[in-house]
Amino acid sequence: MSEDGSISSTIPPCCSAVSREGRVVNVVPDIKVEPKPESDELWFKDAIIYQLHVKAFGDSNNDGIGDFAGLTEKLDYLEDLGVTALWLMPFYPSPGRDDGYDISDYRTINSDFGTMQDFRRFMQEAKRRKLRVITELVINHTSDQHPWFTRARRSKATSDARNWYVWSDTDHRFAETRVIFNDTEKSNWTWDPEAKAYYWHRFFSHQPDLNYDNPRVLSAMIQIMRRWLDHGVSGFRLSAIPYLCEREGTNNENLPETHAIIKKIRCALDSYMPGKVLLAEANQWPEDVNAYFGDGDECHMAYHFPLMPRIYMAIAQEDRFPITDILRQTPDIPANCQWALFLRNHDELTLEMVTDVERDYLWSTYATDPRARINLGIRRRLASLMDNDRRKIELMNSLLMSFPGTPIIYYGDEIGMGDNIYLGDRNGVRTPMQWTPDRNGGFSRCDPTRLYLPMIMDPVYGYEAVNVEAQSRSLASLLSWTKRLISVRKSSKVFGRGSLTFVRPANRSVLVYVRQYENEVVLCVANLSRSAQAAEIDLAERTSRRSAMLLTLSRSRLTGSFGSCSANLMHRRLRSRAPRQNSRRSWSPTAGGRCSTAVPNWCLNAMFFRHFLRAGAGLQSEGTCQRPISSAPYPSLRPIPIWDLRCSRPKARAKPRIICCP
Ligand code: NOJ
Ligand code: CA
Repeated sequence: MSEDGSISSTIPPCCSAVSREGRVVNVVPDIKVEPKPESDELWFKDAIIYQLHVKAFGDSNNDGIGDFAGLTEKLDYLEDLGVTALWLMPFYPSPGRDDGYDISDYRTINSDFGTMQDFRRFMQEAKRRKLRVITELVINHTSDQHPWFTRARRSKATSDARNWYVWSDTDHRFAETRVIFNDTEKSNWTWDPEAKAYYWHRFFSHQPDLNYDNPRVLSAMIQIMRRWLDHGVSGFRLSAIPYLCEREGTNNENLPETHAIIKKIRCALDSYMPGKVLLAEANQWPEDVNAYFGDGDECHMAYHFPLMPRIYMAIAQEDRFPITDILRQTPDIPANCQWALFLRNHDELTLEMVTDVERDYLWSTYATDPRARINLGIRRRLASLMDNDRRKIELMNSLLMSFPGTPIIYYGDEIGMGDNIYLGDRNGVRTPMQWTPDRNGGFSRCDPTRLYLPMIMDPVYGYEAVNVEAQSRSLASLLSWTKRLISVRKSSKVFGRGSLTFVRPANRSVLVYVRQYENEVVLCVANLSRSAQAAEIDLAERTSRRSAMLLTLSRSRLTGSFGSCSANLMHRRLRSRAPRQNSRRSWSPTAGGRCSTAVPNWCLNAMFFRHFLRAGAGLQSEGTCQRPISSAPYPSLRPIPIWDLRCSRPKARAKPRIICCP
């Protein structure tokens, strides 16, 4: 850093690349930018991300397509929901044959979504509400309409322009590579009559893969990244990154050359604007996904693809094993990295990261109608996968919010939107957001036939039954419940940053885990079954130092407080009314640090029970009992402020409510 505080123009050694001819090519040309240090570079660990497509959210000019002006009008809703970051799916010019992931120009926005001025205003308004924006950097491929490709295909085979993509005279190269979109594509090679050669593509045939053996490609991508950083975005989802490089004799996934490219992108990002994030879309097994964190020098976040289907599996089987097993297999990640957790997104619920037997099971459970299946997955939304069972939807979301990682909510899932499996491709889960019971669900005033996709209109999930306006009026609605869940999640760093330890009661329908961060401990108890379950939770089983702390806590009468504050207090806090039939509690602490509980069905009910280990305060109760508990070796516990979650929003000066103790 120079004396005036600006970052000097030297190029970090990691930000150069070697061309085929052996020349070193700088991929980070001279730069001189004002440093914009982030106050907390690990902000993404505490984030709650909301994924949306601009076209689906709000249509300001009533042409049937959502746009940035429409999205800007909806920012109050998102702020009120409590999410902290928006992940916008591709909004660049595109022929739209892969919903914008087929980009024909990375430098500007699709005119269907407005102007750059609209985009800038949206960014300003988002910033004003402290909402960060993460965009897509589709680095693996472009549209075949991108000028890079049109130039490549008409250029000589030996030219530099041709070298931006991967070409071959035969379609027999890279024979060990799987076809990902196996419903539509038969090969990863497509013949181009103009180039008189085959070009390589891991996805649709209209999406040629870029050639990352050409340093100019990386250089161009980094320029594009900087452009959007200059516009204020906080990070990038790196789409389809396992496939950047190809080598004969391999399956062309997760190659060391690919990791080298990602390290260069990270280096360029950090040197240009520290505190921004890369989110890896690497649909791989845990140890392979793990590699995308590098040594903390590749991506900041990566989706936990193997965990996601196993949550569905655990609920279907009413057995915690799929979850505990995959998390056991999940390696530790560098301290500056984070898993990105999700239940659903804009793609099919991918079943690539399960065994054939597991896939058949999930298909037969969640996609009995073959039309719900696509490629190796299921094209349905969360609510319909859960058969619109409110308790199951809540349980799924509770797990999402309490597992280690940063949760991502797919737009519409907070109100329980449904899908339309009769629409092609994955369009059934990409229909317009349902705002009101009015025409086009309040999304657009256009003629309904003009909408980019029809509204969901069936009697169960249609916009007349499921919409934001109606749910905003009811504190018992899924939307209000989700807001409360989000506000509880945000009230502590333990969920985003804490460790996870499983407690294993004999009853495998009950999933018990402890989250701990610094001096805060949260016990989470989830019943994965359809009926109430009894479980004995042995908090004394741990041997590690951290566990010993918990053990000590449980032995020093705090077991009693676990018991007294069990399931239904927490449950009640998230619901507007306590469900009477489930409100009988029977947590009875025993001397050995055990407590027994009857856990209501399909619910994660003790999630927000927590201890703060601080000096000078006592644990007090919500009810009449105010008896502090001595918890040697920790001097005492302080009262836990809990927002009154029966309100739709926390009251600014609400009197702290206290978790009860015996
Ligand atoms: C990943 C995106 O999530 C998916 O929607 C898209 O079809 C593929 N990349 C190919 O572009
Ligand atoms: Ca519009």
